Amino acid sequence: MDFTGKTVVVIGGTSGINRGIALAFARAGARLAVASRSQDKVNDTVAELRAAGAQEALGASFDVRDAEAVAAGLQGFRDRLGEFDVLVSGAAGNFPALTAEMSINAFKTVIDIDLMGTVHVMKGAYPHLKRPGASIINISAPQSWLPYEGQAHVCAAKAGVDQITRTLSLEWGPEGIRVNSVVPGFIEGTEGAKRLAPSPEAEKSFKKDVPLGRWGQPQDVANACLFLGSDMASYVSGTVLSVDGALYQRGSGRAGQMIGQMLRAMPKPG
Ligand code: COA
Ligand code: NAP
Repeated sequence: MDFTGKTVVVIGGTSGINRGIALAFARAGARLAVASRSQDKVNDTVAELRAAGAQEALGASFDVRDAEAVAAGLQGFRDRLGEFDVLVSGAAGNFPALTAEMSINAFKTVIDIDLMGTVHVMKGAYPHLKRPGASIINISAPQSWLPYEGQAHVCAAKAGVDQITRTLSLEWGPEGIRVNSVVPGFIEGTEGAKRLAPSPEAEKSFKKDVPLGRWGQPQDVANACLFLGSDMASYVSGTVLSVDGALYQRGSGRAGQMIGQMLRAMPKPG
C-alpha cells in the first residue's frame, strides 16, 4: 500500500488500536493528523509517526464531545495538510457498568463520546473531504450487534455509529465519498480489552469464544483500514466489516455474561 501524497486524519489516534492505524498509514508514506484530549499523547504520537515514515505529521488536542472544538481542529488540519483522503473516527470511552447501577450521566457520557463524537467528527470533516475519492472509516465494536451485560451504553452508542455509517453512505455516496465501519474484536494489550477482561482468567475465557483462537493485534485492524482507505476498496461503501476472528458468528458468548457476573460480584458502595 502506498499512501504517498494522501492526507489521513485519525481522531482518537493517540493510543491503542487507533494509534496502530495511524502508524500503518505513516509507514505507507501518508501525511498524518491525529487528535485526542491529551496534548502529551498527541505530541508523543506525532513523534512516532514522523519516525515511522509519515510524509508529514501533526496533531491537535480536543474533546470530541465539543462540536465547535472538533470543527476548529479539523479546519486546522485542512489548512495545513489539504483535503482529507481518509478520515478515521475512533475516539471512544467505555467502562463496564450495569444499567440499573450507573447514573444517567454515566450512560450519557458514553453516548456523548462514542455516538455524538462520531457525529461531530463526520460533520466537522464534511467540508474538507476529497470529492470524489474520500474514504471515511468509523471504528465500531462488537457491541454494535452483540448484546453484552454491563455494556448497554456502549451497545447503544456503537449501534448508532454503524447506522450513521450506513445512512451517510447513501447521503454522501453521490459525491464520491465512501463511508464504512470496522468492527475490531478483542484486541490484545489495549485499554478497551483490559477494561472488559481485567484478569488473566477473564482474558483466557473470552479467548475461548474466538473461533480463530486468539485475540487480534492492532495491525489486524490497521490492515483492514489500509484496504478501506485505498483504491482497492473503491466500490466498497456502507459496509460494516468485522475484524474479529469470527467472534460475531459465535454470538455474545462468555463475555456477554461474564461482564455482568463480574459486576454483580463486586462489593457495593455503602
Ligand atoms: N462505572 C460507573 N460509572 C462510571 C464509571 C464506572 N466504571 N466510570 C465513570 N462513570 C461515571 C462517573 O461517575 C460520571 O457519572 P456521575 O457524574 O453521575 O458521577 C460519568 O460516568 C462521567 O465520568 P467522568 O470521569 O467525569 O468522565 P470523563 O469525561 O472524565 O471520562 C470516561 C470519560 C468515563 C469514559 C473515561 O473512562 C475515559 O476517558 N475513557 C477513555 C478511554 C477508554 O475508555 N478506552 C476504552 C475505549 S473502548
Ligand atoms: P484507547 O487506547 O483508550 O483509545 C481511545 C482513544 O480515543 C485515545 O487516543 C484517547 O485519547 C481518545 N479519546 C478518548 N476519549 C476522547 C474524547 N472524549 N475526545 C477525544 N479523544 C478521545 O482504546 P482502544 O481500546 O484502543 O479502542 C480504540 C477504538 O477501538 C474505540 O473506538 C473502541 O470502541 C474500539 N474497539 C476496541 C476494542 C478493544 O479490544 N480494545 C474492541 C472493539 C472496538 P485521550 O485519552 O488523549 O483523549
